Amino acid sequence: MKRVYFLAVVSLMIFGISQAHAIQRGDPQRGEELAQTCLACHSADAVNSNPEWPRLHGQYHEYLVKSLQDYKTGRRENALMQQQVQDLSLRDKRDLAAWFSQQEGELYVPRRR
Ligand code: HEC
Repeated sequence: MKRVYFLAVVSLMIFGISQAHAIQRGDPQRGEELAQTCLACHSADAVNSNPEWPRLHGQYHEYLVKSLQDYKTGRRENALMQQQVQDLSLRDKRDLAAWFSQQEGELYVPRRR
């Protein structure tokens, strides 16, 4: 009987963790609205008009949120992007990441010199 309780507690814990994770993933619909300003540079086209602009369509959710956080804190330096994230809340970043990560597209990450 003890074992049944143990399993029940463990399942609840796993369920709790997966729920918390789901909440953090953000709302892609809201993300799509926010992303309209980003698309000027981060288009889904196979060929970017500027090779310095990475494509974000299909990028990992966690990578997107982390990059945006890093631009905000200055850990990752880029004048263009630092300006873009100035007014984004954590929720905005998660929503943006939720939308971009769900899009089909060929990733393009510029080569760092
Ligand atoms: C004026 C052009 C421009 C706009 C608008 C813009 N970005 Fe960027 N973005 C860049 C450039 C240039 C880089 C590459 C910077 C670097 O080398 O770190 C970049 C990098 C990124 C990265 C890191 C990608 C990677 O592969 O490492 C993310 C994430 C990102 N942008 C998200 C966004 C979001 C979300 C928006 C809209 C809120 C946005 N950007 C708007 C120009 C832009």
